[in-house]
Amino acid sequence: MAALDGSILRAFLDAEGEAVSGDRLAKELGVSRVAVWARLARLRREGFRFTAAPRKGYKLTATPKVLHAALIEAHLRRLRIHLSCEVLTEVDSTNSEAERRLAAGAEAPFAVVALRQTAGRGRLGRRWHSAQAGNLYLSLAFRPFIEPARLSPFTIWMGLALCEHLESQHGIHLGLKWPNDLLDDRGRKVAGMLTEARVDADRVRDLVFGLGLNIGERPEELRGLASSLRETGGKVLDPSAVAAGVIGALAKAWEAFEDASFRRSFLRLHSRYDCLNGKRVRVTLRGQPLSGIAEGIDDAGALLLRLANGKRTAVASGEVTLRPRRPAA
Ligand code: BTN
Repeated sequence: MAALDGSILRAFLDAEGEAVSGDRLAKELGVSRVAVWARLARLRREGFRFTAAPRKGYKLTATPKVLHAALIEAHLRRLRIHLSCEVLTEVDSTNSEAERRLAAGAEAPFAVVALRQTAGRGRLGRRWHSAQAGNLYLSLAFRPFIEPARLSPFTIWMGLALCEHLESQHGIHLGLKWPNDLLDDRGRKVAGMLTEARVDADRVRDLVFGLGLNIGERPEELRGLASSLRETGGKVLDPSAVAAGVIGALAKAWEAFEDASFRRSFLRLHSRYDCLNGKRVRVTLRGQPLSGIAEGIDDAGALLLRLANGKRTAVASGEVTLRPRRPAA
């Protein structure tokens, strides 16, 4: 039934707002008109609106405000993204779920999306607020055949691909705050990324890329510090369309990462979306603070810091805090 819903919705997406004939739909999908009618009635209960166009059929005039599995699938098929995507109503953490599925031998790559997480996690053991059903909690799972050392620019590359996608598809400019945050122009966090890998001595066994993206709502608890695509871009977006587009963009970014072709645009894209460049920052690395001016990244994704003594150092990992510029002496 979910596949039938996906096919029905795909026909409406292909019609791009024009009417779709119920008879034609029934013939093309090889089901009765009554079956199509029953599915439309059910989809209406799930938040879709179809208006009857006399003698022409139905028009899709509204989609659900929360992620909808069949609609995501329809968008993915329209984008020709052949990646299995499971949408769960609730899970502890999509990263944990992806890890469990990888451990159980699931075929990768695959995506896991949840409407809510009960134990969403961020970097450094922090909690990721995951109560809002209109936001995206997504994990992509891969079984890469690459050496562990090659992973270092991975999260940054995925973040840059996301910035490029959101700008080209939705006109929303976000910046990348090294190494895992996407911020709006006022420095408020719109998305966070969490990469987790199981690594053998000479190769990455499996890899999970987690993304929390505020689409419609920013977490109430983080008022002032967080924002969302709706607030930043000023328009209401269909979360399922956003989710499918993001999954498609990240799946393509992964291919470019795996075959190393990402190198051709990595540093250029970073300088376009870098929101730290030229700013005074403090990096905390294993509890030790290091201050300086951010000067971009190197090709391994390490942050380049100009220290007070004039020397430049590369920081491979850590937590960045922006510091106010010192007043001129
Ligand atoms: C951070 O900013 O510290 C990273 C946040 C990552 C949150 C996402 S939500 C989907 C996936 N599942 C999780 O438990 N965490 C990531």
